[in-house]
Amino acid sequence: MVKICCIGAGYVGGPTMAVIALNCPSIEVVVVDISVTRISAWNSDQLPIYEPGLNEVVKQCKGRNLFFSTDVEKHVSEADIIFVSVNTPTKTRGLGAGKAADLTYWESAARMIADVSKSNKIVVEKSTVPVKTAEAIERILTHNSKGIKYQILSNPEFLAEGTAIQDLFKPDRVLIGGRETPDGLKAIQALKDVYAHWVPEDRIITTNLWSAELSKLAANAFLAQRISSVNAMSALCEATGADVSQVSHAVGKDSRIGPKFLNASVGFGGSCFQKDILNLVYICECNGLAEVANYWKQVIKVNDYQKNRFVNRVVSSMFNTVSGKKIGIMGFAFKKDTGDTRETPAIDVCKGLLGDKARLSIYDPQVTADQIQRDLTMNKFDWDHPIHLQPMSPTGVKQVSIAWDAYEASKDAHALCILTEWDEFKTLDYRRIFDNMQKPAFVFDGRNVVNVEMLRDIGFIVYSIGKPLDPWLKNMPAVA
Ligand SMILES: NC(=O)c1ccc[n+]([C@@H]2O[C@H](COP(=O)([O-])OP(=O)(O)OC[C@H]3O[C@@H](n4cnc5c(N)ncnc54)[C@H](O)[C@@H]3O)[C@@H](O)[C@H]2O)c1
Repeated sequence: MVKICCIGAGYVGGPTMAVIALNCPSIEVVVVDISVTRISAWNSDQLPIYEPGLNEVVKQCKGRNLFFSTDVEKHVSEADIIFVSVNTPTKTRGLGAGKAADLTYWESAARMIADVSKSNKIVVEKSTVPVKTAEAIERILTHNSKGIKYQILSNPEFLAEGTAIQDLFKPDRVLIGGRETPDGLKAIQALKDVYAHWVPEDRIITTNLWSAELSKLAANAFLAQRISSVNAMSALCEATGADVSQVSHAVGKDSRIGPKFLNASVGFGGSCFQKDILNLVYICECNGLAEVANYWKQVIKVNDYQKNRFVNRVVSSMFNTVSGKKIGIMGFAFKKDTGDTRETPAIDVCKGLLGDKARLSIYDPQVTADQIQRDLTMNKFDWDHPIHLQPMSPTGVKQVSIAWDAYEASKDAHALCILTEWDEFKTLDYRRIFDNMQKPAFVFDGRNVVNVEMLRDIGFIVYSIGKPLDPWLKNMPAVA
């Protein structure tokens, strides 16, 4: 029986291994992690992450050929194929701080593999890593090898949170990079055989190691670039009276461009886009490519601009001050169908409003009160470390309360800010909400989910990103 061990039981390791186990009953899959709480959660009925369809998949194979354990060394030593899916945060200190990927967790995983292995291994990079990481890992492993042979493969993960299970069952492509030597090709084939249990052969792409590593960074940079491009257009739409939904519909109809990822919003978030682009920028700089680095840096700058613009719009519309005013925050996760808040635009928007002394009542159907307080007090980039290594938030932010539902969050509020596109925000009883709010009652829709006409008929003053401005907003001070 082939044995797989995955180091890192997070958003990638957990779902990916569950889908492999389900589709490959003849393979034993063990997911290991240094976080005891994470592993206990995987072994309970309350999984540590929310992902539609995940519960069902895990239920079918947990205890059969899917296991979760903290006994990292035992399972690594027994495995034939080891996936490494640990955090690769942005460095906060030293060389490349604020841009380069911090490979501390990756390196310690590699050293541990070298220490405990007694047989030949295929080591698969699942984490998103800088180009040429495989070479560094290879050095760590072979310098400690005791005659053991290692083959390093790059198999970046393209799943998107919120649709992870769907993406894993029907991937657009599976990418496997490896050495172009006989042993390298054999390793590529072994991993291909795993995926071939359910992925059609023409969707499994094999490349050299560096192409696979770079393709992942490139794909995320291109995706984020589309969002920043349409968000840049949204600012121009507001200034000119064009409607960004009409513009993106017209643009997306061009088959060379396509319709996906063209929704204007308060900005992109998630654990990957910013981190991976910064990483790309750093690689460009290290290779003396300043212009290329600046080109990609701009994608992040526009994202920051969009979040600032949103905060400025809220404050300027409300008589240039939100001091002491209650604002209902609808949604905190970085997108719908996930409880993940890493780099969510809600953090910067909330911090911006708190900076103007607003009182916030935050509601999200999948994010805990503890997580929200943690996010609002944590330093930049601290989130991307194993939970038990993150600083504890000493006290919560005083002007923030957490609500159980949208109605509680909006009660007596002066304004609502919709920051995540949860489906339930489309069908709320906005008449009831309006009746319980202070007047004038504002809705700032950072995801373009509400029916603007209907809300205006009820009496709300509505701002939607990139749409012709409400007459009220036109008379307010210009935003930066
Ligand atoms: N989240 C996504 O949508 C996504 C998609 C594609 C790729 N990725 C990449 O995959 C990697 C993992 O991302 P994630 O979202 O799953 O992160 P995560 O933080 O959810 O999970 C990583 C896990 O690794 C564990 N860990 C760290 N060091 C360890 C060690 N030495 N031994 C055992 N366990 C260790 C941590 O405790 C944590 O539970 C990152 O490189 C990320 O960029 C993420």
